[in-house]
Amino acid sequence: MLDRDIEKVVVSKDEIEDILLRLSKELTEDYAGKTPIMVGLLKGCIPFMSDLMKKLDFHLEVGYMDVSSYYGGLSGDVDVKIETDLNMSVKDRHVLIAEDIVDSGRTLTAVIRLLKHRGAKDVKVVTLLDKPEGRKVDLKPEYIGVTIPKVFVVGYGLDYDGRYRNLPYVGLLKPEIYS
Ligand code: IMP
Ligand code: MG
Repeated sequence: MLDRDIEKVVVSKDEIEDILLRLSKELTEDYAGKTPIMVGLLKGCIPFMSDLMKKLDFHLEVGYMDVSSYYGGLSGDVDVKIETDLNMSVKDRHVLIAEDIVDSGRTLTAVIRLLKHRGAKDVKVVTLLDKPEGRKVDLKPEYIGVTIPKVFVVGYGLDYDGRYRNLPYVGLLKPEIYS
């Protein structure tokens, strides 16, 4: 049913599976013996984080944050609102943030700054998708699933108007859905 609204598949189910295998191998090497806190940014992280964590062969703890950002104002700075905060301390812990997509990078930059301010030992980012052309701040995620052009995509966590997060792949919506 949802398939009918999709113009083009951008990252297929098979490609997602390959990405998960590659990222989990890298992470399992890098975090061996470390027990990080994997912090998912709601709600987009859910399918990606859920599938990825099952392939990670090291001890970790899981936490979630829901953060929204507002741009503009006279300063042009980003103001970040924490809708739901982490319910655990990150002091002296390795933190691995799991994101669906990095676009401008503003939300993540604010979250990274906050977690470091709270005493995290280090904060790294694993993202399924990266849109470097959209970047407004200097931010490079340590672990990237796949780089895509500056297009609006849905599925596998990513929404349009709150919907399509449950699509099992990433795709472009048909133009008539927006209008
Ligand atoms: P930014 O990096 O601060 O600009 O914000 C990234 C957030 O914007 C992501 O976590 C998504 O929630 C949302 N976002 C960015 N690009 C897309 C897209 O193509 N589809 C759906 N959501 C997107
Ligand atoms: Mg998001």
